[in-house]
Amino acid sequence: MYKSILRPILFQYDPERIHHLTFKMVRSLCKIPLTRSIIKNIYGVNDPRLEREVFGLTFKNPVGLAAGFDKDAKLYNELSDFGFGFIEIGTVTPKPQDGNPKKRLFRLKADQAIINRMGFNNEGVEATVERLKKNKGVLIGGNIGKNKVTPNEQAVEDYKICFDALFDYVDYFVVNVSSPNTPNLRALQDKEPLTALLNTLQEKNKEKGNSKPILLKIAPDLNNDQLLDIITIVKETKIAGIIATNTTIERKNLKSNEEVTKEMGGLSGKPLTHRSTEVIRFLSEKSNKAFPIIGVGGIHSAKDALEKLDAGASLVQLYTGFIYEGPQLIKDINKAILKRK
Ligand SMILES: Cc1cc2nc3c(=O)[nH]c(=O)nc-3n(C[C@H](O)[C@H](O)[C@H](O)COP(=O)(O)O)c2cc1C
Repeated sequence: MYKSILRPILFQYDPERIHHLTFKMVRSLCKIPLTRSIIKNIYGVNDPRLEREVFGLTFKNPVGLAAGFDKDAKLYNELSDFGFGFIEIGTVTPKPQDGNPKKRLFRLKADQAIINRMGFNNEGVEATVERLKKNKGVLIGGNIGKNKVTPNEQAVEDYKICFDALFDYVDYFVVNVSSPNTPNLRALQDKEPLTALLNTLQEKNKEKGNSKPILLKIAPDLNNDQLLDIITIVKETKIAGIIATNTTIERKNLKSNEEVTKEMGGLSGKPLTHRSTEVIRFLSEKSNKAFPIIGVGGIHSAKDALEKLDAGASLVQLYTGFIYEGPQLIKDINKAILKRK
């Protein structure tokens, strides 16, 4: 129903407006208890064989919602009804910020892709914390970043603020240094600043006593040497794992009209499927499976998800595939995993 009826209507309109409208629709619908249980019945796949123990947490199934969809933690309770095993909120920054000027989100329909240059638009970490206090049992990842106005030399402070504020309300953390839409952010992926940043957060983590898993989210545009550095950094800083990958700045073999493909920002969806799986495989093989990987990037079918799991991912996440395929995709993946058992 999503692909044949809803999507053609939604895709007529501006993507960012539709995102907010869909949020309102889903929230209103889910206020009716009957609708909520119908959604759960249609999309939920409850089976203990889907459970995964990863970095000390129990996931009810391995299919999560990627960061950026529910940036401000406004809809995670309702979204989990559609069958997600976990929801990653954020990227959040210490202070609220508007992000880049609109228009900043583009559909590339012929490529089943999206280009975005949102620029960490979010209401700030405190607003997110207030919403997370209403969590009804959803496993939450907290994806953290820095404000645009914070220079890279002071970035650690921003990550610390978000880490402290979210600590009691998320199950794992994601350090995002891989978004292409905050100027210079990706320079923090270099070995020295990255090691310093992760060590600082791990120190804080230790101070807390009951430490939380910290993951690092990386770009698909890193070369093999940089990926080898990442493996070393994970080992040295003893963080819990990697999320591979964020959006790409590459624009290869696209079918959509040239005007839209030239938009600045990160490309996600189908054109990313292969590269992100390649990164997962490289990290898994070269590290001898030393740490868990969450695989994300261009999962539009159960087959795409299984390929990421086979390449070494322990869990997967969706964003663009969820927009193009709808919630049935979550169910299809979980069913395909069960079928393999
Ligand atoms: C509109 C949009 C906003 C995003 N915002 C964030 C973000 O704030 N933080 C982040 O780590 N990733 C963000 N992402 C990246 C996704 O989490 C994901 O890593 C990427 O899109 C690749 O997966 P996909 O091909 O399934 O979309 C965003 C992606 C899109 C399309």
